[in-house]
Amino acid sequence: MSDQEKRSPRSKKVTLKKSRGRTVSSQRWLQRQLNDPYVQDAQRLGYRSRAAFKLIELNEKFHFLKPEMRVIDLGAAPGGWTQVIAKQVNPDLPKSQIIGIDLLEMDPIQGVTLCMGDFSKDETIEQLKAILKGPADIVLSDMAPSSTGYRQIDHLRITVLVEEAFYFAKEVLVEGGTFVAKVLQGGVDGGILNILKQSFETIKHVKPKASRKDSSEMYVVAMGFKKQLQ
Ligand SMILES: C[S@@+](CC[C@H](N)C(=O)[O-])C[C@H]1O[C@@H](n2cnc3c(N)ncnc32)[C@H](O)[C@@H]1O
Repeated sequence: MSDQEKRSPRSKKVTLKKSRGRTVSSQRWLQRQLNDPYVQDAQRLGYRSRAAFKLIELNEKFHFLKPEMRVIDLGAAPGGWTQVIAKQVNPDLPKSQIIGIDLLEMDPIQGVTLCMGDFSKDETIEQLKAILKGPADIVLSDMAPSSTGYRQIDHLRITVLVEEAFYFAKEVLVEGGTFVAKVLQGGVDGGILNILKQSFETIKHVKPKASRKDSSEMYVVAMGFKKQLQ
């Protein structure tokens, strides 16, 4: 049974009666966490974040994670996606390699190489390339900059991260490889979408059920990398 199928039936809604000194926004956040079925299922199944279910859903749709792959997970903390990758790829197989990178420190995951650094910096990209033992089968990015509260600035910052992730993927992906990245509603911006279309056989935009309805995030899944044409 897949972890998606193991998800439990919904429990009764929890209402916080007392604020106990919490601010209105933290009260709202706590209430949402307590009533979020994905948060409950992540805890029950041992995932570090509810985000794990987004990758599970994407993989159940596109089947890009397979045993014995070289995978790079950008924006990996706290590690929900990395756990899903490790489960599907099996880091103990001889040709497997899983690398996770984030600005934040992460608790270890068996068989995974974790790096702490800013992906926007050249030295971090060089470090990743030095660790890679060969071309990557998949580059995934769930990177999201912390919100400034200004929609347009946030959009611009995530667009820059997606572009950086894509140019990195172009350098390290194997022929036929896959690139998955978090983007904002409306999908990948025009210019980069055209380059993506030239570089991959198929491009799909998906909003997984586990992605909150009020969030403008969605994912681009680009499969069938055409290395020869780069
Ligand atoms: C939504 S979280 C990722 C959740 C993760 N996929 C999981 O399943 O647990 C986004 C992450 O992107 C990271 N991030 C944002 N900008 C980054 C950058 N420039 N370099 C590396 N990581 C970055 C943040 O620190 C944050 O941990």
